[in-house]
Amino acid sequence: MSLVCFPFKEEDVSVVVRNIECAASHPSIAGVLCVGFSKGETWHAIESAKSAIEQSTGKSVILLQQRRIGTSLRGGKGDGMNTALVYFLDNTEYHRLHFYDADIVSFSASWISKAEKQADLDYDVVRHYFPRSSTDAMITWLVTKIGFALLWPNSILPAIEQPLGGELLVSRKAAEILIADQRVRDQSDWGIDTLYTFVMAQAGLRMAEVYVPEGKVHALYGGLQDLRTMLVECFAAIQSLRNEVIVTESRYRIENPRPVPEAVKQKIGYNIEKTLKLLKSNWSPRQKELLQEYFDPALANGMLHAIEWPCWSFADEEAWISAYQKFLDHFEKGDFDWEELLFKIWVARVLNHTMKNVIRGYDAALGALRDLIWETQHNAAIQLKASSEAPASNSAHAIASGHTATEGLSNGHQSGKSLKNANWSNIGAACTVQH
Ligand code: LAC
Repeated sequence: MSLVCFPFKEEDVSVVVRNIECAASHPSIAGVLCVGFSKGETWHAIESAKSAIEQSTGKSVILLQQRRIGTSLRGGKGDGMNTALVYFLDNTEYHRLHFYDADIVSFSASWISKAEKQADLDYDVVRHYFPRSSTDAMITWLVTKIGFALLWPNSILPAIEQPLGGELLVSRKAAEILIADQRVRDQSDWGIDTLYTFVMAQAGLRMAEVYVPEGKVHALYGGLQDLRTMLVECFAAIQSLRNEVIVTESRYRIENPRPVPEAVKQKIGYNIEKTLKLLKSNWSPRQKELLQEYFDPALANGMLHAIEWPCWSFADEEAWISAYQKFLDHFEKGDFDWEELLFKIWVARVLNHTMKNVIRGYDAALGALRDLIWETQHNAAIQLKASSEAPASNSAHAIASGHTATEGLSNGHQSGKSLKNANWSNIGAACTVQH
């Protein structure tokens, strides 16, 4: 029998209570664990509903406040998920643990059944994935999937559809591996999903992804400002892993997607008008210096023009890949100016995607995102292949020191013009190991 965890903050109480009831009624579920960020209105509503749900379903509903497990980063979603892992490992009557966001309006018993059915084939991890709006998932596509493609192109990571998804099932083996890992315990913020996904791949766990055709209906965002903290924490999580290597192979299976519902295709993921203002906000003289010191002139000039009048054509795919590599090397989390630069350049990239790709329709927009990941992954893999064929002393050093292709790449100073050859053209220089 399995345990379902809903991590929660302040949510629509009727949705949360309905979801708890739905999970508790499922025949594969023996308990529902609600992990609260704090004891607010939602906490008290669950507390009041708990005994009636326990009586009607005969299952346990456990209410826990999240523990402070990480100590160096902000206490957030990571502490909540890790608190659930610890509870699950201590309570050995449960064989599997499911996580679902508490605010999902479209949650149903089939989400649990789908994951259980895959786990019966001995997958250690089953992740849910959904159709998403072409302007949603901009951290997933532009930060996490790009980072995975650049840094570990030959692993399963770039193929994982929704690596930041909070809907997944883990076996006891997967939970033990995750919680034994200091990097996971430390990641108490939004970076937790990145760490879970990365550690699962590094440990060679068996992973499956199941498709939920109705999609995840939940609150979207106002301006992109709402995503600033998440962006910074997700990027910093990738950056913290950049010198890691993956040597294991994972077994991986994915269910085919279905046609995307019209409502998802037509959804605009964020408020464009509010977002335009962000390009000219919060500039400091130091941000302009950093921009000019580290980034390609075309991007730097474009960002400076956008202070006067909203513009974004300079923030194309090539410019983002090039900037991303500079951020991997130089970004400093906690430094306001670096965080603002990452945020504003990402805002410009999202606007460019919206105005250049989304405007051509849903399929064109998703196609552009998929092509970007595929090209990036391919070019990084070519880079790694070239470096492994380099003279023995260089490649031995590269492996021993955990250097990755991207470290080499980011030492090149090309300014991208065409994605086909930008940033990747100078393979010889890029593969030189820096002593
Ligand atoms: C993402 C966030 C925005 O997946 O939900 O990118």
